[in-house]
Amino acid sequence: MKTIFSGIQPSGTLTIGNYLGAMKHFVDLQEDNNCYFCIVDEHAITVPQDRLKLRENIRSLAALYLASGIDSDKSTLFIQSEVPAHTQLGWMMQSISYIGELERMTQFKDKSHGKEAVSSSLLTYPPLMAADILLYNTDLVPVGDDQKQHLELTRNLAQRFNHKFNDIFTIPEISIPKVGARIMSLQEPTKKMSKSDENNKASIFMLDDEKKIEKKIKSAVTDSEGIVKYDKENKPGISNLLTIHASCTGETIETLEQKYEGKGYGEFKQDTANAVINVLKPLQQRYYELIDSQELDDILDKGADKANFAATKMIRKAKKAMGLGRVKKKK
Ligand code: TYM
Repeated sequence: MKTIFSGIQPSGTLTIGNYLGAMKHFVDLQEDNNCYFCIVDEHAITVPQDRLKLRENIRSLAALYLASGIDSDKSTLFIQSEVPAHTQLGWMMQSISYIGELERMTQFKDKSHGKEAVSSSLLTYPPLMAADILLYNTDLVPVGDDQKQHLELTRNLAQRFNHKFNDIFTIPEISIPKVGARIMSLQEPTKKMSKSDENNKASIFMLDDEKKIEKKIKSAVTDSEGIVKYDKENKPGISNLLTIHASCTGETIETLEQKYEGKGYGEFKQDTANAVINVLKPLQQRYYELIDSQELDDILDKGADKANFAATKMIRKAKKAMGLGRVKKKK
């Protein structure tokens, strides 16, 4: 049995990129592992947030985790800011991080590019992410492709800490799905699909209704060749739809290429829309049952207790290793 940790930011409505690249795999992993799944609200405030919207997004993300199949009897689901050890260890991790290595993070470069006011927490975001993971003796971190660099830094920081102070942290492995690790924008298929894309047609959100999903997939940018074939370089739009279709139905991309040989994009797009709807519709039904329920609060309370218990143990070890606090004199 391995310990698994992963987190998602409540920074907007989740996209099928979040689902196919990350969330879907969490559900499989919880069967034989000790899993922690986190709503990382402290990461979300590294960019400005409307406080009421943030509150709403936190609850919504919790409901989405459960609706997608996270079982609170098998996994620990909790909100980052309800477990103070995250920011405590985050500070310790900042103290062993170098500004240069943080400035090299592509997410920092992307999010700060062209901005006049950049928060310092946007720069120190990766040490907090390292703390999230290291608090739980995590063996494996399931994420999409865009988190690879942050995971590499987490491993470096853990090794640096172990070497400098005491060997207390497990060095986590990264787990990236073979298909669906990078779902692309429907409008600019060379760009990642993102919760925060200003063009609404670029992303399918997990709570989009059938009509919207159909419309967005039908207007997805493709090419004029008319051949359903995976070719990321020359046919990024069709390749992205093939990936989405395959991830939703479990079919391989090769099977789909054969199935749509000689057929036009119209039929392929309609079937892709149906594949997405078939995944999202039952999930949305569960979501609406959960969102205003007491059950959701009970699950989050239980999750915070369990996470606090595990994290407090590790924070004690980390403080001791770094020499923080004091040793009481015997009377
Ligand atoms: P976030 O909130 O941006 O995304 C959550 C998860 O979704 C994956 N993802 C995608 N996968 C495929 N295609 C896409 N277009 C796509 N967009 C997003 C992400 O890779 C991620 O797995 N820094 C993290 C949150 C975090 C975290 C952690 C993750 C904080 N602490 C500790 C793991 C462990 C983030 O911003 O994810």
